[in-house]
Amino acid sequence: MIEFKNIVKKYRTKSIINPFSLEIDAGQLVVFIGPSGCGKTTLLKMINKLIQPTSGKIFVNGTDISTMNPIELRRNIGYVIQNTGLFPHMSIKENLELIPKLKGEDPASIEKKTIELLEMVGLDKEYLDRFPKELSGGQQQRIGVARAFSTNSDIILMDEPFSALDPVTRSSLQDELFQMQKELNKTIIFVTHDMDEAIKIADKICILKDGDILQYDTPENILKNPANDFVEGFIGKRRVWNNPELLMAEDIMIHQPVKITAKRTVLQAIEIMKEHKVDSLMVTDKHNVLKGLVTLKGIQLLNRTTSIEMIMEQNVLSVSQDANLISVLATMNEHKIGYLPVVNSGKQLTGLITRSSILSALSSQLIDLEVAF
Ligand SMILES: Nc1ncnc2c1ncn2[C@@H]1O[C@H](COP(=O)(O)OP(=O)(O)O)[C@@H](O)[C@H]1O
Ligand SMILES: [Mg+2]
Repeated sequence: MIEFKNIVKKYRTKSIINPFSLEIDAGQLVVFIGPSGCGKTTLLKMINKLIQPTSGKIFVNGTDISTMNPIELRRNIGYVIQNTGLFPHMSIKENLELIPKLKGEDPASIEKKTIELLEMVGLDKEYLDRFPKELSGGQQQRIGVARAFSTNSDIILMDEPFSALDPVTRSSLQDELFQMQKELNKTIIFVTHDMDEAIKIADKICILKDGDILQYDTPENILKNPANDFVEGFIGKRRVWNNPELLMAEDIMIHQPVKITAKRTVLQAIEIMKEHKVDSLMVTDKHNVLKGLVTLKGIQLLNRTTSIEMIMEQNVLSVSQDANLISVLATMNEHKIGYLPVVNSGKQLTGLITRSSILSALSSQLIDLEVAF
């Protein structure tokens, strides 16, 4: 889909990109990561011909881009940079519709797509008539992302798009980007210098240093087998995954377990379980202190009007937030339980560990679960 073939970039005599060859498959999200100055932006800008290589070729869908008209090429490649690049004097709607209109797409379908994109990035229609400066930084960046997806292009280039955002906004945009990519199946090259961000969103990560590729692989393989000391240093704290005793209950729990108060009835408990598709509920008081537990199996044959207070399991086992994975697994195995509530020092419920929450937190490649279970 995108192929770099022996790309070299020199400024005067200084070599910025050494012979660089890489293939990126269609529909993948590939993250370029590396220290500042290693050539990430240079490589990205070569794809939309904002920078010319000194030698070598880039192929997009099999076509050598040096033979393509740059304007035409760019119209078909979404591009997102750190400070969104929204046009300040245009409304959000005009910003989003600019390229589809330039391309002569059907007005009705443009309108429909604009609203869909806005929803995908978590904003509603009321923002359409606002101007960029009337939005927060995070909202502007959401529009920047939506605009990149508006081009109907198969390729989107993103150069540290979330770097300037606060951690909460950043994290939710990462989730949305991941979701959009899965739905719309774009090929995305995403530049960052943040390994956590890379691991969270990438299908494959390309680790760069001084214009060379140090490693190009899936996040799991990079974590498991870093190619050299530099990569190992770069993924640094992530090594925690290889040391399960460093993983805390907090890291492996569901953060919003479904709960119920003791004054409710069996009928209501069953309804809540159905609604949330769970087979157990934590019982808490109005201060969120853990009081007990009910399971579907335990209550489904009981009289529907019975109060939960009367039938809940009391003295439920729980662990503190800083209990480590090893002790959590030992407790679950020893007592043959599938659920383990997590509480803080005030006995308030803060989470719930289940076998599937452990599995999804770890992902089977990162730790040998055969041993753990
Ligand atoms: N126009 C230029 N002239 C000379 N050197 C440049 C120019 N543009 C970028 N560089 C150098 O190329 C290297 C790679 O830059 P860049 O691709 O922006 O790195 P990154 O995005 O990884 O931080 C840096 O050392 C930078 O100083
Ligand atoms: Mg850069």
